[in-house]
Amino acid sequence: MHDFHQKVVLITGASTGIGRAAAIAFRQAGARVALAARSADALVQLADVLGGPDWALAIPTDVSDPDQCERFVAESVAHFGYIDVLVNNAGMVVSGLFEKLEPGDAERQFQINFFGALYCTRAALPHLKARRGVIVNVSSVAGLIGTPTTSVYSASKAAMNAWARALRVELRPFGVDVVTVCPYFTSGVQLAQKGIIREGSLHNRPGKTRRAPGTQTAEEAAQAILRAAARRPRLLVLSWAGRAIWRLDRLAPWLVDWVMEWGMQRLHKGET
Ligand SMILES: NC(=O)c1ccc[n+]([C@@H]2O[C@H](COP(=O)([O-])OP(=O)(O)OC[C@H]3O[C@@H](n4cnc5c(N)ncnc54)[C@H](OP(=O)(O)O)[C@@H]3O)[C@@H](O)[C@H]2O)c1
Repeated sequence: MHDFHQKVVLITGASTGIGRAAAIAFRQAGARVALAARSADALVQLADVLGGPDWALAIPTDVSDPDQCERFVAESVAHFGYIDVLVNNAGMVVSGLFEKLEPGDAERQFQINFFGALYCTRAALPHLKARRGVIVNVSSVAGLIGTPTTSVYSASKAAMNAWARALRVELRPFGVDVVTVCPYFTSGVQLAQKGIIREGSLHNRPGKTRRAPGTQTAEEAAQAILRAAARRPRLLVLSWAGRAIWRLDRLAPWLVDWVMEWGMQRLHKGET
């Protein structure tokens, strides 16, 4: 069990799913947490459950707006005094065949998944440097290999990965670490429901509830984020299935392409 007593942790996308589970996990490990997302009611309710303002602060924030990201960081510091960990977790998915996407879809995808993380990091950096803190970016296995029907989602996560890699080296002299956590599939989350779904999407297929092998719970992903914040590896790929696909892709990308094409055709024919 990692100890986060006396630590202040900022988490974006804390209203549901992995971010919510991470907020609970960090609190259980002793941290004080600042919670960001757009759903104010959900955040306030979670902050109450986590012990109220001494321990958890709800700060409604749209991460696609740089001013709101600055306010999130400023209010967190005004309240708790400092920052040790920033978890850039807020995200959504644009799903569908690339040629069926509409103008603005890709921009919105990047605005939230990539620029949201960048804005929060920029605002938090001076505070993280003062505490030799850590940035945990919640990316995706899709950002490591590129997955069909979520091409711009994959691209937004790949951008996050490349940016994080460079930033890690830039910030090492200051004692600040940048960690990339790549979840595979996670159950019980609304990522697709709140996303942009276009023709050809494999998300939200009525009556299709079968889970991919290796699917984790949000709580398992949250524990991995906690571990990442404590141990500070460069990259953490989650789930045996996520690691298997990532490794196979480095050895035989043509094989992963073939499997994805086969899987996509079966899914579109409704065979799974
Ligand atoms: N679920 C998976 O299978 C999976 C796999 C790989 C990676 N991931 C990544 O894990 C992260 C968490 O996803 P999840 O599965 O937990 O999905 P989720 O349940 O939909 O949670 C997404 C969170 O992001 C917040 N969010 C979305 N747009 C926002 C915005 N503009 N400003 C602020 N907050 C925003 C949502 O809150 P509001 O709507 O209240 O703003 C919510 O709290 C994402 O970055 C996702 O890409 C998930």
